[in-house]
Amino acid sequence: MRAKKGIISYAIKPSSKNINPLGFGASLRGKNMHGVCPSWLSFILYNPVRKAFTDRERILDESGITAGSVVLEVGPGNGFLTEAIAARAKKVQSIEIQEGMVRKLRKRTLPFGDKVEIILGDIAFMQPAPEAFDVCLLYYSFHEIALKDKAAENIARAIKKGGILSIYEPSIEVNKTGMRETLDLFVHLGLEKETERAGIFTRFARMRKE
Ligand SMILES: C[S@@+](CC[C@H](N)C(=O)[O-])C[C@H]1O[C@@H](n2cnc3c(N)ncnc32)[C@H](O)[C@@H]1O
Repeated sequence: MRAKKGIISYAIKPSSKNINPLGFGASLRGKNMHGVCPSWLSFILYNPVRKAFTDRERILDESGITAGSVVLEVGPGNGFLTEAIAARAKKVQSIEIQEGMVRKLRKRTLPFGDKVEIILGDIAFMQPAPEAFDVCLLYYSFHEIALKDKAAENIARAIKKGGILSIYEPSIEVNKTGMRETLDLFVHLGLEKETERAGIFTRFARMRKE
């Protein structure tokens, strides 16, 4: 593990495909990063149009994020929501698989200092502190995770009893069945669905850990 200011860096599970001469995880060719939105396209994730048309405060509201919340964010990308979470919550830990995204995320969240902890790694191979988080937010990220069963276990374990899991998925990528399969995964891990809605652009569900 290599630690820089504000970033804790973990190895992504090595495989014959994702090892490169510079170390683990820098290559998108690794099978656990197949299908992820590459960091060179991150301008799509953070741009004025998306900012204007996405009500980030509403997302935080319906995810139950308050000033006292300790939040786990998986797949933050370059920080479109991280900065909004950091501005409202007590603390946010963001786990991101791509080094390129992490570099941009770090720059964007510098003004928030120690409130934001950024971890480079694959959620399927990481174990955030158990029962430490009031809310886990998966914003347009779960469908990109290759090893969903393992990831779901690590996410469910990290949420406090009575805590919230908030899942948003793009409707164009995740259909009704896909969303139901995701929710079923978490139901088997002890979470209960509180609310769900499907729109043209987004599917949303909020679950609570029993
Ligand atoms: C479509 S982007 C969304 C980013 C951000 N939430 C947003 O809405 O702007 C999905 C992000 O999830 C990350 N991701 C994919 N698989 C992951 C994994 N196994 N562990 C952690 N992050 C992952 C990708 O690298 C990418 O940055």
